[in-house]
Amino acid sequence: FGLMTYDPGYTNTSSCISRVTYIDGEKGILEYRGYPIEQLAEKSSFMEVAYLLLNGELPKKDELSGWEEEIHHHTVVHENIKRQMESFRYDAHPMGMIISTVAALSTFYPEAKNVRCAENRRLQIKRLIAKVPTIAAFTFRHSQGHPYVYPNNKLSYTENFLTMMFRMVGNDYEPNPAIVKALDVLFTLHADHEQNCSASVMRAIGSSEADPYSAWAGAAAALYGPLHGGANEAVLRMLNEIGDVSKVPEYMKKCKNGELRLMGFGHRVYKNYDPRARIIKKCADDVFEVTGRNPLLDVALELERIALEDEYFVKRKLYPNVDFYSGLIYQAIGLPVTMFPVLFAIPRTIGWLAQWAESLEDKEQRIQRPRQVFLGERERDYVAMDQR
Ligand code: CMC
Repeated sequence: FGLMTYDPGYTNTSSCISRVTYIDGEKGILEYRGYPIEQLAEKSSFMEVAYLLLNGELPKKDELSGWEEEIHHHTVVHENIKRQMESFRYDAHPMGMIISTVAALSTFYPEAKNVRCAENRRLQIKRLIAKVPTIAAFTFRHSQGHPYVYPNNKLSYTENFLTMMFRMVGNDYEPNPAIVKALDVLFTLHADHEQNCSASVMRAIGSSEADPYSAWAGAAAALYGPLHGGANEAVLRMLNEIGDVSKVPEYMKKCKNGELRLMGFGHRVYKNYDPRARIIKKCADDVFEVTGRNPLLDVALELERIALEDEYFVKRKLYPNVDFYSGLIYQAIGLPVTMFPVLFAIPRTIGWLAQWAESLEDKEQRIQRPRQVFLGERERDYVAMDQR
């Protein structure tokens, strides 16, 4: 192909220089701004991690409270956004709803187009982080036919989200602290993952200097696919379909002969156990103590046990990824499977925005415009309709 590099799926192409997230796939290492994911999951909060990813350093106490206050300031959405959402079908997929609604936010903030202004970028970043959970909760309420619950800015980011999801008229729903902690850890684990498909889309759309709401919608659309963030939904559907531990070997056979993919397994970069999956497994135990054990956990554990010993999976270095166990937790919390990719999109907003800002600050970045290897017909003369 001449001097041009042909690299389908960009397995060997670095599209940018980044200082946000580091992965060593062979060793199973994930770090945000140099801090190991295990330490952040154990000791930090999601809002603290968001600050870290966006600013490069952990916040001091007053910086964190100031940051949380700024996010609170933007949690409400315009009433017309709510009205627009009411027009979706009752069974609309929450990802379809959130993608189009966040895209619509760009029409409410036309100044967001001024992406070259750092101050303006910071304002839009805060708006997006604050409004995405509100819209996410509205998608759930819509699917349930329940009135939307407005944000309560006295609550933490995660508590607020759970309350907007589950509070009912006439009750004083207060999320269980163990569930709040587990969801906060899950948000932390999903916050960024360097140049994955959706982050690459965010950067690509951002490179044409489109506004961040439109870029977010494009990134979320990429996330929605079952090979990326939609895998958590696909895993639960798969576990339901298998239904019982006794059916696992038969299902595995289909995965090995290429009929099916074992959802929640494999990763482009991790050729070792995904460190996030290990933390999520522990997190599941904490949640099940409150909610009761999800019976599908046995099916998942059996799939993992067989896969870790089976030559097909061992040879290809296929291990459970972040999506393998997360759905079991979401289900135990009381969420329908269609909400699972939304639960991924909320925290990944941080990574998309951190990388979007980084790429706009990078003087070497240009509009993303890959080349192709052309193998089609050339130099043909037009053939009149009656002669074809
Ligand atoms: N089940 C069965 N076989 C698999 C699987 C799987 N889940 N994943 C990869 N393989 C096989 C694949 O068939 C291929 O075999 P062969 O060499 O014989 O052709 C080999 O392993 C390499 O696979 P690949 O498709 O070339 O790998 P990739 O890096 O292009 O794809 C992946 C990575 C994540 C898309 C893929 O492993 C997959 O489809 N996994 C299932 C979906 C999933 O769980 N996605 C979530 C990824 S992690 C979180 C996120 O990104 O959102």
